[in-house]
Formats: sequence, structure tokens, C-alpha cells
Amino acid sequence: MTRQVPVGIVGCGNISDAYFAGAKNYDVLKLVACADLDPARARAKAEQHGLRACATVADLLHDPAVEVVVNLTVPRAHAEVNLAALAAGKHAYCEKPFALNSADGAAVLALAARQGLLVGSAPDTFLGGGLQAARQAVDTGAIGRPVAALAFMMCRGHESWHPSPQFYYQRGGGPMFDMGPYYLTALIHLLGPVRRVSGSTSAALPERLITSQPLHGTRIPVETPTHLTGTLDFAGGGTATLVMSFDTWPYPLPCLVLFGTDGTLEVPDPNGFGGAVRLRRAGEPGYTELPPTHPAARGRGTGVADLAYSILRRERAHRAHGRLAAHVVEIMESFERSSVTGQHVTLTTTCERPAALPAGLGAHELDP
Ligand SMILES: NC(=O)c1ccc[n+]([C@@H]2O[C@H](COP(=O)([O-])OP(=O)(O)OC[C@H]3O[C@@H](n4cnc5c(N)ncnc54)[C@H](O)[C@@H]3O)[C@@H](O)[C@H]2O)c1
Repeated sequence: MTRQVPVGIVGCGNISDAYFAGAKNYDVLKLVACADLDPARARAKAEQHGLRACATVADLLHDPAVEVVVNLTVPRAHAEVNLAALAAGKHAYCEKPFALNSADGAAVLALAARQGLLVGSAPDTFLGGGLQAARQAVDTGAIGRPVAALAFMMCRGHESWHPSPQFYYQRGGGPMFDMGPYYLTALIHLLGPVRRVSGSTSAALPERLITSQPLHGTRIPVETPTHLTGTLDFAGGGTATLVMSFDTWPYPLPCLVLFGTDGTLEVPDPNGFGGAVRLRRAGEPGYTELPPTHPAARGRGTGVADLAYSILRRERAHRAHGRLAAHVVEIMESFERSSVTGQHVTLTTTCERPAALPAGLGAHELDP
């Protein structure tokens, strides 16, 4: 049997349950401890999920029983907690966004390289059956040479449901830093790294009114663009058009569509692990749903398990890797930079496309 890799979770908020549950799907992961700035939250999750609560975050980072720190804190703390974990000799896996700016992302990658440790980041939804089937379609030439993509994430924001939605409107929030990682990671997984970005950004409202509990009635100042639109030019050719918005009421737009010289591919919502992939090849009268190539039913924690296998076998590249996440951060910040300067932004980072998953794996298996 494969050795289990011991994991500690920092940040016991809204998304942590998905990781506490998801990690149990992978034998390679062993959840041992959790911590939060608010120790009561850590104690509650520890009791609920049957693990140990550390009194402080520093205690968890220096706990000899922990090998990987999964960082589920709010976006502005991501780089700081990743740096502290690496400095303490732990591998780090972070919720998205990887960092609030490229400089912070680069600092995390540099420290990991110096320490000889691995860094990974959400999203890992591209390891689900939906985006893996889309990848196989692209790689086997189903649409010919990809020439264009459309990506839409348009909604009215998160203050109507999230219990503490302030961070969505602070620096590091907004629709791009919140949802862009799903769309951009999916696009890089399908089409490769990006060469340059153009963008126009705006914010329709100077403040938001929370209508969820327990902060119902609280007003949040908006400190980040809440509507971003622009283009990506891929290093390997082809362009994508993106709209990411918290300023718009719903309209039935597709999440992600790829256009190639020989056909069109409708890709499922990249903020999920499953979903149907539909193909219309040149000359065909309509769309056909492609048969699944991998199990759809993966969940959060898959990227952590993939990183854990790479700890056990260091020549194996993990897929939701830090260089990919840092490239995504530079793309995201470039929308605003382009909007302010009125110029395309040529990117300084790049990354390799993560390897596709081999066929024939079970829902809770990864290639070890
Ligand atoms: N909520 C979701 O549905 C969802 C989905 C996908 C991804 N995410 C991402 O997960 C991350 C966390 O989101 P959330 O919804 O769980 O937020 P949350 O506010 O519910 O929880 C964050 C937790 O982190 C703790 N924290 C903040 N700074 C810390 C620090 N420096 N050290 C230790 N703990 C700290 C807070 O006390 C809180 O308990 C965000 O990056 C978010 O984008 C959230």
C-alpha cells in the first residue's frame, strides 16, 4: 500500500467542509490537524471531522506530523500562509487565487524552489471527467486546430448567500480573482499558456448590501473591478474572449466554448468536476454529446492527492501546480493593467500544460 501523506488544513471556513470530505476519497491523504485564526472554528471542525485542532496557525505549521499544508484562508492571506508553510518545511497547496499579484506568486514559487518543496493550487476541477473529456477531444483533433474560445461568468455577486462575503469586494476578490482561476486554468489545460492579454474593467456599484445571514443589512465598499472583459492570445495560436462579472443579472450564456478549424466544442462549467461535452463537427447538423472518458465524480481534494503522489515520487509532475497558478495570477492582473494603460500586456510568466489523466481510472484514483 502507498504511504499516506499527512495533511494539515489552515482556514476552517465555508469551503473547508468540501476538503475535509474530499480528502477522505483518496487513500494517499491523511488529514491530521486543522487551525484557524479563530481557534473556535478550528475546534468545531476538528470535532466534526475527527482530527486534531491546533491552538494557533504557527503550531500547525511547525507540527512535525504535518507534511502538506492546505491553505483555505481568505485570498489576501494566501501568499503569506503559503510562505510561512514553506519556511516551516511543509509542501503547500492553496485555494484560489494563488496570490493577489504576480510578485507575491513569484515569491512563493521562489521559496518553494529554494526549500525543495512542492506548491499546488486550486482549482483542480480540470481533473474531473468534464474537462478531461474536453481535453481528449481537443488532443485527438475533434475540432481541428483551435482558433478561438468564448468564456462567460456573469452573475450579480455573492452577498446574497455567502455568510462573510466581504472578501469578494476587496482587492483579490471581484469576479476575475474569484472565478477567473476556474476559466483560465481550464483554458490553459485545453489550449496551453497565454502570450498576451487585453482588458477593459469597471465597477457598476460603489458598495454592496449583504442580504445573507448573519451580516444582513451590512454595506461593503467595493475596492475591486466587478466587471472585466477582454481577450487572451495563446502562445500556441488562437484567441479567447472573456467576460467575468458580478454586475449583471443572469442570462443564458454558455460557460466555455472552443471553436476550431473543423468544429465547435461546448465545454462544461469549469467550476465543477463533471458535465457534458458537446461536439459539432463541420458538416454535421447538430451537436452530439461525447461519451465520458473519465469518471465525473471527483471533488475538492483531488489536486491535493495529485500533489501527494508527487511527494512520494518526485519525478512525477503534479498537475494543479504553482507555475500554472502563478501564470493564471499574471493573466488576471493583466486585465486591469491593460484597462488602465490602454495597451495589451505581454506576459512574463508561462507554464507547461498539465498532463491529461490516463483513461481507465476509478472516481477516487489518480495515476500514482
Ligand atoms: N465558499 C466557497 O464556496 C468557495 C468555493 C471555492 C473556493 N473558495 C475559496 O476558498 C477560500 C476560503 O473561502 P471561504 O468561503 O471558506 O472563506 P471563509 O471566510 O468562510 O473562511 C476563511 C477562513 O480562513 C480564516 N483565516 C483568514 N485568514 C487567516 C490566516 N491568516 N490564518 C489562518 N486562518 C485564516 C478565517 O478565520 C476563516 O475561518 C477563498 O480563497 C475562496 O476563494 C471558496
